[in-house]
Amino acid sequence: MTDIYQQLDSIYRQLMDKAHEARSSSYSPYSGYAVGAALLAASGKIYLGCNIENASYTPTVCAERVAFFKAVSAGERQFVAIAIVGANAGEEPSRPCPPCGVCRQVMSEFCGPEFVVLLGDREEYQIVPFADLMPYTFTMENLAPTESVEEPDEAEYEEESVPEYEDTDLDENLDENLDENLDADLDDLDDEDLELDEDFDELSDLDDLEEDYGEIERLLAELTAEENEAE
Ligand code: THU
Repeated sequence: MTDIYQQLDSIYRQLMDKAHEARSSSYSPYSGYAVGAALLAASGKIYLGCNIENASYTPTVCAERVAFFKAVSAGERQFVAIAIVGANAGEEPSRPCPPCGVCRQVMSEFCGPEFVVLLGDREEYQIVPFADLMPYTFTMENLAPTESVEEPDEAEYEEESVPEYEDTDLDENLDENLDENLDADLDDLDDEDLELDEDFDELSDLDDLEEDYGEIERLLAELTAEENEAE
């Protein structure tokens, strides 16, 4: 092993030790799975984190995010490596504890593809480049406006824009509308008048009938009187 790798190995082992140290503070009464993380910032400082669970479950935060949030809130923005160790409480970590998807997303905010993730244990750890854990990241680049989106032409915009509001136009429109509505109402009333007239006509037809009946009755009475006289 060349010098540089020996140096790196010593730094990584140190980080693993720190992750173990952080794990001892884990608050995980619900899962019983204790995790510790040690994050090396570009400044050379190491930030520790452990998982912190909650009776409501969803507010639970992973060890990695605790380490990141502590570092970022201390002013750090660039990071070199993170060591993660996890196992059931009371047991020694033997299997790798890969960071969850949410933690990977948090890492992608601050870490490039060369960021190192150390998994496993002090004696046997894996060096995983962040690019392997998170090949397609969603970052602020995705939110940046694309060049193909054209700014609207100012002149065109003015042309198409809504004309300024003027009281007089509104008043005129209102007057016109009122007039139109009134005319329509008057037309309706006229129609109703016509219908009423028709009804009245029908009524007068009834009067005629009554008159006719009266005449018939009178004639019948005359006829019966004549018949009686003839007898
Ligand atoms: N956990 C971590 O802290 N980091 C990981 O990488 C995986 C999971 C925690 C969350 C929860 O408290 C417990 O482990 C079980 O999921």
